Amino acid sequence: MMVAEGMILPHAGRLLVLLPGLGAVATTFLAGVEAIRRKLAYPFGALSQIGELEGEDNERRRIPEALPLAPLEDLVFAGWDIFPEDAYEAARQAAVLSEQDLAAVEDFLRSIRPMPAVFDPQYVRRLDGPHVKRAPTKRHLAEALIEDIERAREEMNADRAVMIWCASTEVYTPPGKCHESLRAFEAALEANDPAIPPSQIYAYAALKAGVPYANGAPNISADIPALEELAELQRVPVAGKDFKTGQTFLKTVIAPALRRRLLGVQGWFSVNILGNRDGWVLEDEGSFRSKEVTKTGVLEGLLPAERYPELYGELYHKVRIHYYPPRGDAKESWDAIDIVGWMGYPMHIKVNFQCRDSILAAPIVLDLALFLDLAQRAGWYGVQSWLSFYFKSPHVPPGEPVEHDLFLQYEKLHQALRSLARMALTSSFQDCAGWDRR
Ligand SMILES: NC(=O)c1ccc[n+]([C@@H]2O[C@H](COP(=O)([O-])OP(=O)(O)OC[C@H]3O[C@@H](n4cnc5c(N)ncnc54)[C@H](O)[C@@H]3O)[C@@H](O)[C@H]2O)c1
Repeated sequence: MMVAEGMILPHAGRLLVLLPGLGAVATTFLAGVEAIRRKLAYPFGALSQIGELEGEDNERRRIPEALPLAPLEDLVFAGWDIFPEDAYEAARQAAVLSEQDLAAVEDFLRSIRPMPAVFDPQYVRRLDGPHVKRAPTKRHLAEALIEDIERAREEMNADRAVMIWCASTEVYTPPGKCHESLRAFEAALEANDPAIPPSQIYAYAALKAGVPYANGAPNISADIPALEELAELQRVPVAGKDFKTGQTFLKTVIAPALRRRLLGVQGWFSVNILGNRDGWVLEDEGSFRSKEVTKTGVLEGLLPAERYPELYGELYHKVRIHYYPPRGDAKESWDAIDIVGWMGYPMHIKVNFQCRDSILAAPIVLDLALFLDLAQRAGWYGVQSWLSFYFKSPHVPPGEPVEHDLFLQYEKLHQALRSLARMALTSSFQDCAGWDRR
């Protein structure tokens, strides 16, 4: 999509939201969007719906009024899963929302039936399902996904699409030679290289089809040089990875506060219990390793041992996730933080967050879908680090430092949205944006 510099193409027609993985997060997102459209729910947690932007004149404007985002009414959906059940059945199984809330949008959820997935239990060892594509090579699988995308676009009469990965966490596979360039990656697709997991095939297919891609899971997906190259080549935005929802969300608030007070931190022990399918998958060592990398990575930048060895040189950071079925999606996390104050005296902080995983993740899926679509219409492409706010392990372009501090991430997001709002003002469709009428 070529866009004149400084302009935003207007939203017109429909935006197709493509969801690999119709599990707890995706179905909670879908049910919520429909409930909001039917005026049965308020969009708690969604900046794209109720956030505010501060203009040059310090005047505050609601984000959907300041930016030409696709309205909820114009969203259409499609997805893939290894199980063939429709989104209503999948949502019932996920057991996040009440029967009553699901009944109110049952017809809508039943209309969303997953397409057969690209899946291999080698990469998600605790799951297997019958609804999968078979093809001789990974290149064929990528082509099949591209066909799915084109067909869904046509059937839904959609003008544009975005893809948000909401499928299970794949095992940790360190980047190798085949990830270093697009050429090597395409050769590896052809050669069925085991270093390429399904999520990378989806990401590749999305970018090839000109569809922005975000990764909500911790596994390595679009954050490899080969796919960064493809995103640049195709002029498509990408973002990731691992939705920042519960424990890490709070960690990236508390750690910067301790740092600003220059209190020492000796230890940070984070424990979670959860009993949903995600928790079941994360019991596997390989999938847990992907999560461990994104969850433990946050403190390094926030509490820099090299700049303050006295404060953070001894920091011991440990993260554990336990599968505990009675809790389902209602995850509970505990943080035991051992801090040090004046004259080296120890103190302790305990945080206990009784959250609902998918309730926290659903608005993030919505914001990412709408902001990535807007970025594409503004001609922004490649790695979108301004969306770091939403991720535990922000994907940034090579050489750019990763920011984990939630408030600095928010500032960066805000600045990007402000500049998009200014572009919207100067675009030829400014009347539709509504900004100038307020
Ligand atoms: N809920 C949160 O707060 C949160 C936060 C951060 C990250 N995440 C990540 O988001 C993802 C989704 O979480 P969830 O709670 O919905 O999990 P879930 O297990 O309920 O749903 C995942 C779905 O993906 C499907 N799937 C697996 N591999 C697939 C493939 N290759 N193609 C298509 N479908 C596939 C599974 O069958 C399942 O239905 C997980 O990776 C999780 O780690 C969730």
